[in-house]
Amino acid sequence: MSKGNGNSAAAFVRLDNLSKSIGIQKILCGVTLEIRQGETMVLIGASGGGKSVVLKHITGLMRPDNGRVLIKGQDIAMLSKRKLATVRQSIGLLFQNGALFDSMSVGQNVAFPLRESREGAPDKLTEKVTAALELVDLAEHINKMPIDLSGGMRKRVALARAMITRPELILYDEPTAGLDPIATGAINKLILQMQEHYGVTSVVVTHDMKSAETIADRIAFLHEGMVYFCGTPAELRDCKDPVVINFVSGHSGVPS
Ligand SMILES: Nc1ncnc2c1ncn2[C@@H]1O[C@H](COP(=O)(O)OP(=O)(O)OP(=O)(O)O)[C@@H](O)[C@H]1O
Ligand SMILES: [Mg+2]
Repeated sequence: MSKGNGNSAAAFVRLDNLSKSIGIQKILCGVTLEIRQGETMVLIGASGGGKSVVLKHITGLMRPDNGRVLIKGQDIAMLSKRKLATVRQSIGLLFQNGALFDSMSVGQNVAFPLRESREGAPDKLTEKVTAALELVDLAEHINKMPIDLSGGMRKRVALARAMITRPELILYDEPTAGLDPIATGAINKLILQMQEHYGVTSVVVTHDMKSAETIADRIAFLHEGMVYFCGTPAELRDCKDPVVINFVSGHSGVPS
């Protein structure tokens, strides 16, 4: 079953029949999905099902065997290196493991994408880093090392780093995994703020159905390498398909 993949009016990202094998393993078997400008699309699905692989395709870190990734109507496989770099610059990526550089301070970590793009004039750099850290309520921790932070703080630093280039699109891979409900709520609030204040388009991978319901405009369920369901949180709740019900009840603490 597949529904609600949207009409093509203002698609920011369009995944068109993506397939990908790694070695002998078929990971994606025709993923088609449209993410509209300004919407928050939550991606759910079993562990090992290919959610992170989908995000890697959107950033161009992985190339599909078949199918296309279109960002703002442009097939990213057709772009020159320079144009792809510009598109990548407009994408913020929050890796699944936070992936801070342990040898760099909080401030240096957050500044990294700007240094990479040689965008930040040194005087503006501190200003931008401080502003990004204020957004995640960590400005006073700018000189700490990642090892001296809690797990939730590390996630927020990674979030500040993903946001510092003011991306149009942010990809969040499990932004709340392992966090307590309060830290989870804080991250969800930030994701919503990025959408409301800056019009950011987001794709959020999560296993947490409560977070999914809080932040999603639409939820896509990846199953057996395809988008099995795509719809609003209310449509997901009302869905009678046993595969969907089985997955959702298994991830929401509600007995099936
Ligand atoms: N670079 C890689 N080399 C080999 N196999 C890979 C690579 N990246 C992903 N895979 C495989 O692709 C499959 C899908 O992985 P992926 O990380 O996308 O799953 P996921 O849905 O994000 O799972 P989780 O919820 O546990 O994070 C897995 O079987 C994984 O081992
Ligand atoms: Mg993953």
